[in-house]
Amino acid sequence: MSRIHDALKRAEQERAASTGRHVESAFEQPTSQSDEARESMPSMQASGAMAMPAMPTMTMNSAFNYESLIARCAQREWSPDPRTMLFFQADDSRTGAEEFRTLRSRLYQIREKMPLKRLLVTSALPKEGKSFVAANLAQVLVRQHGRRVLLIDADLRNPGMHRHLGAPQSPGMSDYLLGECDEFAALQRGPMENLFFLPAGKTVSSAPELLANGRLKLLLQRVEPLFDWIIMDTSPVIPVSDATLVAGSCDGILMVVRSNVTPSDLARRAREEFPDKLLLGVVLNGAPADKLQHSKYYYGEAVSSHA
Ligand SMILES: Nc1ncnc2c1ncn2[C@@H]1O[C@H](COP(=O)(O)OP(=O)(O)O)[C@@H](O)[C@H]1O
Ligand SMILES: [Mg+2]
Repeated sequence: MSRIHDALKRAEQERAASTGRHVESAFEQPTSQSDEARESMPSMQASGAMAMPAMPTMTMNSAFNYESLIARCAQREWSPDPRTMLFFQADDSRTGAEEFRTLRSRLYQIREKMPLKRLLVTSALPKEGKSFVAANLAQVLVRQHGRRVLLIDADLRNPGMHRHLGAPQSPGMSDYLLGECDEFAALQRGPMENLFFLPAGKTVSSAPELLANGRLKLLLQRVEPLFDWIIMDTSPVIPVSDATLVAGSCDGILMVVRSNVTPSDLARRAREEFPDKLLLGVVLNGAPADKLQHSKYYYGEAVSSHA
């Protein structure tokens, strides 16, 4: 009797394996390997030949749509920095706002020619205005009726976006990548309708390993259908490799150059880190008013693509 039972059980297990259930469980338990390594070893994962780290149950199989996101992700108190966050107040004619509208138009023009939803914002060095540009771009995009935007702070080494927004830093990206929380817990929304924020999360010392462990890619696949735009703020390119890791998961890159600050050779070196087809253009940040056509335009100017 027990031999028949064992045989039936074995047959059931083999059927389950052949219908691909092992693939789902491999997704549910991402490892700390890179995507490439994970993709090249599905059979090892399926057969259980490889030790898998214990991970908490994720929300792979539960309903994941915009309504569930609104219902389950926390609404937080934000205190946006009034000096640099241009679109939170009723007055939307502030210095710099027009440049962000121009940048928005150019992105829509580019989007007519290529698929463009996941946008990475980076620069050569720290403090050039990556977070400033990413945050205001997300705001100006969400200002358009019905547009849904996810803003991600993927600068795990020196996160700054939460300070611009006056939002909590965690839970967020690092907590999610470590498998310590699910998407609903990592994401938050503030006062602006349809603008969601994934902060950097708690400070970690293993940013490149975390960004390459496969969970970022998984997260982006899950949230992509819910949003019109996903804007990712990253670490600077010259000192560290994190931005190039994140670039593998995006459709296009905006390079920020701070006027009269970024050395041109470093800007060029940073640009060379990315394939030409991903580079959409350069945002010249902090250009002096007298250098621009209209004196009220101060904060930045979107330069044409492939500048
Ligand atoms: N165009 C600008 N005008 C005024 N202040 C700016 C501008 N761009 C950036 N800043 C300020 O410069 C500092 C660095 O900007 P931030 O966006 O945090 O840089 P990064 O993300 O590149 O390290 C912040 O205090 C920010 O408020
Ligand atoms: Mg920053």
